[in-house]
Amino acid sequence: MSSPTSPNENNNKNASGAPSRVTLSLGHLPQKHDIKAPWPRTPTRVDPNNPPWPAYRGYHEYSFAHATMQARLPTILGKAIEDTTRTLNEQSDEELVVDLVACIDRMGELMTDLSGNAKLRPIVDDGEADVALWNKEIAKYFQGKDFMNAPWLFAEAYKYRRLHEAFSVSKHWRDYDVFYRQKCDTFSRSADAVFELSMRFADPFKIEEGLSPAERLEAERLMFLELTQVCLWGNSTDLSLLINMTEEQIKNLQSTGGDHLAATEKNILGNHLNRLWETVKELREKTGGRIDFVLDNAGFELYCDCVYADFLVQSGLASQVRFHGKRYPWFVSDVTKKDWDWLLNSMVYGQLFPKASDTELESLRRLGRRWKQYEKEGKWVYEQHPFWCAGYTYWDLHSEAPDLFLHLSRSDLVYFKGDLNHRKLTYDCAAPASTPFEIAIGPMASSAGAPKIASLRTIKSDVVVGLGDDGDQIAEMLDKKEPGWKISGKYAVVLLSEGRPGEKVRFA
Ligand code: F6P
Ligand code: MG
Repeated sequence: MSSPTSPNENNNKNASGAPSRVTLSLGHLPQKHDIKAPWPRTPTRVDPNNPPWPAYRGYHEYSFAHATMQARLPTILGKAIEDTTRTLNEQSDEELVVDLVACIDRMGELMTDLSGNAKLRPIVDDGEADVALWNKEIAKYFQGKDFMNAPWLFAEAYKYRRLHEAFSVSKHWRDYDVFYRQKCDTFSRSADAVFELSMRFADPFKIEEGLSPAERLEAERLMFLELTQVCLWGNSTDLSLLINMTEEQIKNLQSTGGDHLAATEKNILGNHLNRLWETVKELREKTGGRIDFVLDNAGFELYCDCVYADFLVQSGLASQVRFHGKRYPWFVSDVTKKDWDWLLNSMVYGQLFPKASDTELESLRRLGRRWKQYEKEGKWVYEQHPFWCAGYTYWDLHSEAPDLFLHLSRSDLVYFKGDLNHRKLTYDCAAPASTPFEIAIGPMASSAGAPKIASLRTIKSDVVVGLGDDGDQIAEMLDKKEPGWKISGKYAVVLLSEGRPGEKVRFA
C-alpha cells in the first residue's frame, strides 16, 4: 500500500517525526505580480557596478557586449601581438629585443586572462597618473568580478589599460603603440574624402560678396550644418569595428558630397542640429567663445574634426578650440598626441598619396600649415588629461577629476565625439530610447557649472537615448525591421545639453 505522505516529506522527517523543513502551499493566495524594478536607480544607489538603468555585461548574449568581450577583444589583442612581433623582428639591439619579448609575454598573459575570463586584478604601478584611479575603482566595486560579469564598459576599458601596462612597465617600450600602423594606414586609404575636403577648405573660407546680413547668416548656417555632419559621420570609420575594410567600403562610408549629407540627416535619430547652431551663433554674439572637443578617433575622423574646428575659428564662432586626446593607445583608433602630430606633419611634409595631383597635395599642405599656425598662436590647444583613459564614466567626472570638470566648466561648449564618449556620458546602460539626453547624462547636465555639451555619435553599441517622446516605439520598430541597427554605424544622434553654465562649481 502506498503511503499518504509524499516521498519528500518522508526524507525530511527528523528523529521526532516532524518535518525538518516546512514548505507552505500558497495555492489560495493571489498570483504573483510582474513588478517592474524602479528604474532609474536613485542617485545614491548608482555606482560603477550599478548604473542608473541595467548594465550591459559580457555574459548578456543579447547585447553587443557579448560579441565584443568574447570575440572582438581577443581578435584585436591577437592583431596587437602580431604587430608587436613584426616590430620585434625588425630589431637588432639585444637589450631592446629582450625588453620587447617581455612585453609580448605580458600580452600573452592578458590573452589568457581574457579568454579564460579571469578575475580583474589591480593595475601594476607603472607610474601613470591614472593607477590610483583604476585601483580605487577595482577595490571598491569590482573585487571578485571577472571580464564577463563586470559591466561591459568597465571590462572593455580595463582590457585596454592592461594592454598599456604590458608596455608601460618595460624599460624601452613604454610609449609603443600597437595600433599606430593601422591608424596611419586608414588615413592614407581615405584619399578621396581627404581631398574632397582639402580642395574646398585650403584657402580661408569667404562668403560670397554682396549678400545682405541675413543672407550671409543663412550661408553660414548651412555651412555649419553640413560641416557638423561631416564631423559626425567622420566617426563611422572606426578601426575597432572595420578592421578588414576594403578601400571601396571606406569610400562609401566617407562620402562627403552635399546630396549624401542631406540624405544622411534622415539617419540622425535624435537631432539637435538646429539648437546647436543657435548655441554657437549666440557665442559669436558674445565675441566668440571657447569650444572644446573631447576627441575620438585618429586619422580621418580627426581630420574631419579639424576641418570643422577650422571653420569655427575662421567664422568667429569660436575664438579658441581645445582638443582632448588620450595619453596612450585606447580602443584601437583613439587619438594620442603622436597621432595628432602625425596628422599635421603628414599633411604638410608627408608623401602618403602617390596618386594625388599637385593641386590636391598643395591644398592639403596649406590646410596643414594653417592648423600648425593655430597651434603656435594658441588658437588650438591639444591636451591629454589622465581621466580620459580611466574606467569611470562621465557621471563621475566631477567627483573623480574635479580639476578637469572645473576646466571644462569654463568652456562655452564641449563636443564629445563618437560612440565610446557617448557610452561614458550615458553610463552605458539600458535606458529607454525616449530618455531625454540631459537625464541620461546625469551630473554632466545637472551639476553646478556643467558646460553645454554636444554629443556627435554614430550609433555603434547598445545604449540609445534622446530619440524624443516616441523614441521607444522607434527603437522597437528598428529592433524588428533592422536587427543590427545599433551596431551598424548607419544611424546617429546629435544631442545637446544646456548644462548649468555660469553657476559656481563647488566640490565637497
Ligand atoms: O568595442 C566596442 C566599442 O566600444 C563600441 O562602443 C564602438 O563601436 C567602438 O568600440 C568604439 O567606437 P568609437 O571609436 O566611435 O568610440
Ligand atoms: Mg574610438
